[in-house]
Amino acid sequence: MPEAPDILSPEFNADPYPAYRVLREHHPLLWHEPMQSYVVSRYEDVAKAFRDPVFTSNNYEWQLEPVHGGKTILQLDGREHARRRALVAPAFRGDELRERFEPLIERNAAELIDEFRSAGQVDLVEQFARRLPVNVIVDMLGLDKADYGRFQRWYTSIIGFLGNLTQDPDVVADGLRTSEEFAAYLIPIIQQRRENPGDDLLSRMCLAEVDGTRMTDQDIKAFCSLLLAAGGETTDKAIAGVFRNLLAHPAQLAAVRQDRTLIPQAFVETLRYTPPVHMIMREPAEDVTFSGGTVPAGSTVTVLIGAANRDAEHFANPDDFDLFREDLDTGNAFSAAANHLAFALGRHFCVGALLAKAEVEIGANLLLDAMPDLHAAEPSNETGVFTRGPDALRVRFSPVAA
Ligand code: HEM
Repeated sequence: MPEAPDILSPEFNADPYPAYRVLREHHPLLWHEPMQSYVVSRYEDVAKAFRDPVFTSNNYEWQLEPVHGGKTILQLDGREHARRRALVAPAFRGDELRERFEPLIERNAAELIDEFRSAGQVDLVEQFARRLPVNVIVDMLGLDKADYGRFQRWYTSIIGFLGNLTQDPDVVADGLRTSEEFAAYLIPIIQQRRENPGDDLLSRMCLAEVDGTRMTDQDIKAFCSLLLAAGGETTDKAIAGVFRNLLAHPAQLAAVRQDRTLIPQAFVETLRYTPPVHMIMREPAEDVTFSGGTVPAGSTVTVLIGAANRDAEHFANPDDFDLFREDLDTGNAFSAAANHLAFALGRHFCVGALLAKAEVEIGANLLLDAMPDLHAAEPSNETGVFTRGPDALRVRFSPVAA
């Protein structure tokens, strides 16, 4: 039997997919000593950990609370989670989203493209993918466009803190400083919105009430910080991933360019093939049986989304990027639910899935319009263990006049 691969090794970071295959086939339930966690990799086991209510997600505490400044829905379970989620979820629903936020996405994407459309070359990560989701969150919250740059800095600092596997003290200090700066900026604005609410997401969070209770200023600040991290980094990696995958498969890029109704399929196949989030932790309240054996109550279970999405029991030729595959559900305009696991499943299913879908689809369409003969300028690497995506994606194209 092949030895169990180390999911924190440099080789794994360079290319986790061969290791995922070994895990699925030979070590479907693995104890990882350095992480003090069980690891599951088969589709059915990952789906079970998401769906079965015996699992809680409260073991994120050490990582999320210091930087967000409080508990967020990602860490809550049961009634408290359902109540908090109900306070924020309506604004991210399909009908509301399209009417209110699609124009914001379109304007932001067009403005970013205007900055490089006549240059003939661009790093799509640096100048587009990383910025669009953050700018859109600033706009949705009804904050000042002049603050885009400041939010970009906070975003980089927060995701740096969350991805700081080696606990570099400078990165920790920067993240904690950002949390304080963000609170000093946002809490006075939250207080103003409570008195003079507008039609923006921040005002709606101030007014939202479920079971007679509202979110505190600190709850709202923590949720906005979560939005930046959970909504920024993932969408960033999804936009870049779509283009990286299409550039590596020129016939599929040509097909999408010709028929833009294929963009949703390219998005969903990207989420299956190269999901932005690869690892998530859960904790069972009772002993639980997976296909590889039983884990005791109270232990940490790391679920590998990247491995589950390439499970041959679920997807034919799983290591092929194929937006025409017949075994992939794409969801629809009102639901992003599909059969890949990139948005998780069950109670913590991504609140922002439809927003991400809208951002990627609108962004991809406008980018294809602006870059008629888009091609890669240099190879682009994917990195990351918990979250994963291209660090850079330099492309060239014939410049089009604005
Ligand atoms: C939850 C992925 C975009 C907000 C999640 C979870 C995943 C995920 C896997 C579950 C986490 C867990 O169970 O521990 C993604 C991916 C995205 C994306 C792949 C882009 C392609 C967004 C956006 C937003 C957002 C745009 C909002 C601006 C959230 C929130 C949660 C969440 C608030 C917590 C939900 C809960 O705990 O009930 N996302 N996400 N996400 N996501 Fe996303």
